[in-house]
Amino acid sequence: MYIKDLSQLEGQEITLKGWVANSRESKGLVFLILRDGTGMCQCIVDLNKVGDEMFENARRLGSESSLSLSGNVVKDERQIGGFEVHVSSLEVYQYTENYPIAKKEHGVDFLMDHRHLWLRSQRQWAIMRIRNEISFAIHRFFQEREFVQMDAPLFTGNACEGTTNLFETEFYGEQAYLSQSGQLYGEAMAMALGRIYTFGPTFRAEKSKTRRHLSEFWMIEPEMAFYDLFDNMDLIEEFLRFITQEIVSRCEKELAIIGRDVEMLKKVSAPFPRLTYDEAVRIIKGEQDVDGKNAIKTLEGDLARVHARIEEVKKEIADREQRITTPGMKKGEIAFNQKKIDELKGELRDLEEDSRNIPQWLESARSFEYGNDFGGSDETVLTRMFEVPIMVYNWPHAVKAFYLKRDPENEAFARGVDVLAPEGYGEIVGGGERETDLEKVKNKIIEHELPMHEFEWYLDLRRYGSVTHSGFGLGLERMVAWICKLPHVRETIPFPRMYGRLFP
Ligand code: 4AD
Ligand code: MG
Repeated sequence: MYIKDLSQLEGQEITLKGWVANSRESKGLVFLILRDGTGMCQCIVDLNKVGDEMFENARRLGSESSLSLSGNVVKDERQIGGFEVHVSSLEVYQYTENYPIAKKEHGVDFLMDHRHLWLRSQRQWAIMRIRNEISFAIHRFFQEREFVQMDAPLFTGNACEGTTNLFETEFYGEQAYLSQSGQLYGEAMAMALGRIYTFGPTFRAEKSKTRRHLSEFWMIEPEMAFYDLFDNMDLIEEFLRFITQEIVSRCEKELAIIGRDVEMLKKVSAPFPRLTYDEAVRIIKGEQDVDGKNAIKTLEGDLARVHARIEEVKKEIADREQRITTPGMKKGEIAFNQKKIDELKGELRDLEEDSRNIPQWLESARSFEYGNDFGGSDETVLTRMFEVPIMVYNWPHAVKAFYLKRDPENEAFARGVDVLAPEGYGEIVGGGERETDLEKVKNKIIEHELPMHEFEWYLDLRRYGSVTHSGFGLGLERMVAWICKLPHVRETIPFPRMYGRLFP
């Protein structure tokens, strides 16, 4: 029996096994908030019902003590989950004292050091469930369309996404790398099975701390024979829409727990704008408007508003701080003001962050050099103009991977596509149409100074029955971060591996 099923067990005597998330005592009653992995509910232990000994045991239960209890399920809409349990008996497995994660706020380093315990908190619980639903939706999407799931190797002999962030390792005395992407193997499988997808871990040594980079992340890489860039973009759009709409409908409770505004996610049902790199650059530099809005002017307006609001908030904090020192002020009023002050200070922190960021975005937008890849700031400036993900395609070939097809209409461009998520998230998908011409791939391998002999097997795909094909890669953690609107990818995976973080 699980807490998630309580609504079907009203009036029945049931047994639950779980942990104490919280407890308090009042006049012969102990109120336990029990969690069992599926949900939380209040369980009431009444001295008059269970007797002295069991009541004493219940009183001793600190946070995260483990127990089993039996009782009657009673409907109470005011309680978490809408049902509570009136306990008739309980059996304690372990009394826990001094659980390290208390209710008071902890710094993020402390929480990351205690990730093995932090995962038990309600917010992390909700994120992990959403991650699970996203994974499941991804498999459903591809399986329903009869793509074949494949597992690409993790030890590889050749680089796929450039050589700067490879994790080197050794393979029986030979130099090897941890895979950055399963794509090249996916291409081989697509020539054998038509349409495939990988779903596996990938590794990139990103020697800097950012909110979007992990050293170990999970990537989903479909690869389709006979798809060109535009078929690929159609599939990406259908795919991202499917996942977001599935999460909106299946994770209502979890999204509410983390306070995610689902209206933003519902907007993903609208078509995704498709921009060429050239158009995207003009928008970033303020040379082209989007629905009458100019990116540079919008940022300048936002900055002015941020500065004005900072002054207002500072003044209100000072006023309220003054007020609570007034002699004779009632306790309740002080508490009310203190709460307001805390909220305002939180808002001030966010505003001050904006006031630091916006000038940087403006600077990077104004000085953007045509031909460069987009940095995080450029993506932010661009995506702030849209409410749905956008697809930027036809990139300067020099800034993209060796395997992308040259645009037949203009050889300066490669038929790559990046999908940039709104709300400041930026790139969540990278993909494109693959070069099919043997000589052109070879030239690219030389240009990128990659060792030709290690790619001979890959070149065979262009020697024997080469066909138009395309694919893309979705970073699972970036998707989870955006769907949940998290400030950092570290909370999207149970045990993140990133620069400076190998434990727990
Ligand atoms: O754009 P990327 O590098 O593309 C590829 O790897 C292609 N082989 C994919 C393909 O066409 N089959 O990476 C794809 C996605 C990015 O858009 C991003 O979502 C994610 O992988 N990603 C990372 N996520 C977390 N941490 C990192 N260090 C990431 N690097 C890429
Ligand atoms: Mg990319």
